[in-house]
Amino acid sequence: MLQGKTVILGVSGGIAVYKAVELLRLLTKAGATVHVIMTKNAQEFVTPLTFQTLSGNPVHTDLFSLFQEREIGHISLAERADLFILAPATANLVGKIAHGLADDLLTTSVMATKAAVLVAPAMNTNMYENPFYQQNEKMLVQQGYHLLEPVAGELACGWEGKGKLPAPETILAAAEAVLTPKDLFGCNLLVTAGPTREEIDPVRYLTNYSSGKMGFAIAAAAGQRGATVTLVSGPANLSVPVGVKCVPVFSAEQMRTAVLEHYPEADVVIKAAAVADYRPVHRLENKIKKNSDELTLKLEKNPDILAELGAQKGGRVLIGFAAETERLLVHAAEKLQKKNLDMIVANDVTSEGAGFDVDTNIVRFLFRDGRVKELDLMSKEQVAHQLLNQVVVLWRAKQP
Ligand code: PMT
Repeated sequence: MLQGKTVILGVSGGIAVYKAVELLRLLTKAGATVHVIMTKNAQEFVTPLTFQTLSGNPVHTDLFSLFQEREIGHISLAERADLFILAPATANLVGKIAHGLADDLLTTSVMATKAAVLVAPAMNTNMYENPFYQQNEKMLVQQGYHLLEPVAGELACGWEGKGKLPAPETILAAAEAVLTPKDLFGCNLLVTAGPTREEIDPVRYLTNYSSGKMGFAIAAAAGQRGATVTLVSGPANLSVPVGVKCVPVFSAEQMRTAVLEHYPEADVVIKAAAVADYRPVHRLENKIKKNSDELTLKLEKNPDILAELGAQKGGRVLIGFAAETERLLVHAAEKLQKKNLDMIVANDVTSEGAGFDVDTNIVRFLFRDGRVKELDLMSKEQVAHQLLNQVVVLWRAKQP
């Protein structure tokens, strides 16, 4: 979402300025062109040179600098911005903007912009709770500014409480969310992710290589696009995307229970999880001893969750994934029909850069009417957005 976008990062003076440096790095890594405006106080914490080096652009500090105005004036900055991020935003900055005061380069530029503004305040807890501050913050939200609440914790001043600037990754996710069209607003979307683990004994289990990255990327992208997202995930070492409700599960049986529980209110279901097809018939109470040279494990079939959903689909949109190692399209098309899906995402997990535990994927979308859409190698985030573009069409077509 940030690729090719122009972001103005407004930095005001507080100890959290150091986090704005990391945020700048993440924004440029995500493909944004970033221009930084620093208030006078912000420069007491970190020098403009740091921001200039990381952004590759001159840092703007002075409303009356003839040189800065000639190079790129503050009105031009305000006009070319797709997004303003104010991080950290002090109580003073929030107060000035709320009351229409423009007495330095940052407040003047914010007042002159028509772009979306994301405000990430950070301050001492008592200042944060002060009714004047709270009133000012409310005024910004009422005027359509996007607010990212500070988090609670130990503050630089030694106090405990709410007032800390959220992590740069959280601010980045909020920025992406602001720029993303809300075309899934009103949609209840259920996603599954990750592997399942089928226990053999207290120390061993059967599983697969799924990391959860594909399913988590879908959950994050759907949340950014305005959907209410429930993510049922097998064990995965990933952070739950902001605003997403996550239901952690372990085995296929637990995943089935959680999915069926959330199925009634779902409008769209996307099953990206790699569910183990088989599980041991008996889970042994104690660790298996290596007494013999051979060991035979008796397995039984797990329930096919997706097929069960397909049998009671109603007006929902149902999308599966197919992880194949041969005859990709044939096997995927069979699953599409057999499980009564609207669409299936086929990935050949033997291709480099596709499938399990990588950041990218190569997929094909197969539809009920026989259409096939082939996508090139791309990040799992991009695959998620391409998939959701299709979801929007399928979901709208089913709405009364
Ligand atoms: O998690 P990552 O590391 O990012 O990897 C992504 C991925 C490879 C796991 C993902 O892209 C993917 O292909 N997910 C589906 C894996 C899979 O189990 O495919 P399958 O062809 O065996 O199953 C077909 C569909 O039925 C899937 O939607 C699966 O969730 C579902 N299923 C399968 C078995 C079962 N018992 N119950 C199910 O619901």
